[in-house]
Amino acid sequence: MKEEALLTVENLKKYFLIEKKLNKRENVFLKAIDGVSFTLHRNEVLGLVGESGSGKSTVAYNIIGMYVPTDGRILYKNACINGKSENRPLSVKRDLQIVFQDPSTSLNPRRNIRYILERPLKVHRITEKRSIRDRVIDLLRMVELPPDYMYKYPPHIGGGERQLVSIARALATDPKLIILDEPTSALDVSIQGKIINTLIHLRETLSLSYLFITHDLSLMRNVADRVVIMYLGKICEVARTKDFFENPAHPYTMMLLSSIPTMSREEERVKPKKIRSRGEIPSPVNLPTGCRFNTRCPKAKDICFECEPELREVALDHGVSCHF
Ligand SMILES: Nc1ncnc2c1ncn2[C@@H]1O[C@H](COP(=O)(O)OP(=O)(O)O)[C@@H](O)[C@H]1O
Ligand SMILES: [Mg+2]
Repeated sequence: MKEEALLTVENLKKYFLIEKKLNKRENVFLKAIDGVSFTLHRNEVLGLVGESGSGKSTVAYNIIGMYVPTDGRILYKNACINGKSENRPLSVKRDLQIVFQDPSTSLNPRRNIRYILERPLKVHRITEKRSIRDRVIDLLRMVELPPDYMYKYPPHIGGGERQLVSIARALATDPKLIILDEPTSALDVSIQGKIINTLIHLRETLSLSYLFITHDLSLMRNVADRVVIMYLGKICEVARTKDFFENPAHPYTMMLLSSIPTMSREEERVKPKKIRSRGEIPSPVNLPTGCRFNTRCPKAKDICFECEPELREVALDHGVSCHF
């Protein structure tokens, strides 16, 4: 079966102007994302992984239409959707939803959950007026919350439950693709598993696709079909999850993999030997010339300081941007 592209990101760039100079050409930009390309297929969970500051959320905000890209294209079902969400067709706005990292800031604390879940139904004119309440109950049921939660306010429920409400809100428009921007990293470890299981279950029952953003690589092993690794606004490796964990190729990936805890002997066997992570992440305002990982790479040679490696296929569906 041929995989159908749902979302394609082509050479996406987002530069933030951080210092305006008299001479326009001397303006200082922060290159949050600097040429990112990937495809997300229908019914796929694509993991987007990287350290804090690597540009993951900026990718998400461009896709969702909070930002206008500096360059590049975002294609949804083969149509270019670059630009602000308010200028997009209603059908695209319904199809693409996002769940933010921190539900305590993404939900209005002064509105009850009924109001929060009704809003997208009204804005997107999804449900007939008389059945809106039923739909709210239905959304709560989908995330396994009891109907009487609609009368509660976000500050009065637990963090995990708040995130379930955010997920229910994202489901209100009957979306095709949900961007999950570190959906569990602001939560207590004890409830992270519950949220992940709910997400996996929803994906199966509703045939959803996810762009699953995280800095937690081990989480991806059980959740993602493919994994994309970002470093300083660029992709350094992309592969199917199994392939990724068994045959990692980029030195940065190996560094990440070597530092995650393993659960089984099988995992321990395929895990790269411990690589000490050296150095700090350079600033995206002053990027290193050549490969942007050269300041921390144990394998760096002259060429790595001279030219930037392209992402190239080393095996089927396995891309790596490294000179070696
Ligand atoms: N609105 C903004 N203005 C200026 N710099 C920004 C803005 N948003 C993000 N950045 C910078 O862009 C880089 C990537 O940020 P972000 O996409 O939030 O990374 P991540 O989600 O991977 O932690 C960071 O260096 C961050 O400081
Ligand atoms: Mg982020």
